[in-house]
Amino acid sequence: MTQVLFDYTRQDATGSSCTAQAWARVPPAQSPAERQRTRERAAGLLKSQRAVLVAHYYVDGDIQDLALASGGIVADSLEMARFGRDHPAQTLVVAGVRFMGESAKILSPHKRVLMPDLDATCSLDLGCPPEPFAAFCDANPDRQVVVYANTSAAVKARADWMVTSSCALAIVSHLKDQGHKVLWAPDRHLGRYIQEQTGADMLLWNGACIVHDEFKGLELELMRQQHPGALVLVHPESPQSVVAQADVVGSTTQLLNAVVKGSAPAYIVATDNGLMHRMRQLAPGKVLLEAPTAGRSATCKSCAHCPWMAMNATSGVVNCLERGSGEVHVPEPVRTQALGCITRMLDFVARNPASVQLPARGPLPHVGAA
Ligand code: 13P
Ligand code: SF4
Repeated sequence: MTQVLFDYTRQDATGSSCTAQAWARVPPAQSPAERQRTRERAAGLLKSQRAVLVAHYYVDGDIQDLALASGGIVADSLEMARFGRDHPAQTLVVAGVRFMGESAKILSPHKRVLMPDLDATCSLDLGCPPEPFAAFCDANPDRQVVVYANTSAAVKARADWMVTSSCALAIVSHLKDQGHKVLWAPDRHLGRYIQEQTGADMLLWNGACIVHDEFKGLELELMRQQHPGALVLVHPESPQSVVAQADVVGSTTQLLNAVVKGSAPAYIVATDNGLMHRMRQLAPGKVLLEAPTAGRSATCKSCAHCPWMAMNATSGVVNCLERGSGEVHVPEPVRTQALGCITRMLDFVARNPASVQLPARGPLPHVGAA
């Protein structure tokens, strides 16, 4: 396995929405009465403009509740893409990060796609700029190019396949069965996990999620000793030492389902703590513990929350609908070029529904030809 080194932290630090700028733009907390008024205004605007709210689990709990109460969805990135494509509404409000809005627009070019804050990005997206990525592809023409959803439209335009954390394992396994070698970008932890699980020949880009990268293997071991009956649920963007201790590895929806359907009384969860909102709602009697991001092996204390997801607020939903601000545009020909890899993934998942219900660490399901 060869690695291409890329210092995404420097790129991040000089970018227009680096983490410090993202935190500075998180809308201030509102009083209970203001929150209620904002929720009602947002609900009224969604209704009058026949818009639908498509939210990720990591955004503010008020947005999640509003999405569900108004006929929208709270979901992982795969389901957000499918829901936005299939919903008849002509305006989609995507509460999440930029690649999620771009995927919605790529799939539905005739719909208006709005976001509460267009500058909400992702360290994986920032860490994989289109030009060096294209050079990486040019240098390895014998490989199928597989990119994670957390990338720009321009990067997707160079890819053969897009995958999300819910179906990546099944798709790479399928490519391996067909005799393909894989060029993978950008998340090095997810790429390594898939490589280990499938045995595929994969060349990895060196990106990482700044949130999941902070989970600490040593402190997780200590926490497990204190809670011996707890199941460990891990998003695969986490480091190897954390994934190695997981009872369940999966996308946000898969981790949520593990809590809702699981018989254990307690769960240690290694992902952005925004997911706890929905977990608490759907599994009220269960003990939910955040996996450790600090301790003796830590360099600093992390809050396990994505600064760019935190930029989304109900007030932003109001603003984008009232002003028509935050509209996502994906220019041609990039949109059409990026559509190919997304459609390939969605077609694969439609033909192989079991591919998104992988039992963690269990055998891979049989998947059909692409
Ligand atoms: P999911 O597709 O699992 O929701 O992941 C998206 C993401 O950004 C995780 O950090
Ligand atoms: Fe990107 Fe990580 Fe934020 Fe997900 S949690 S959007 S991978 S920075």
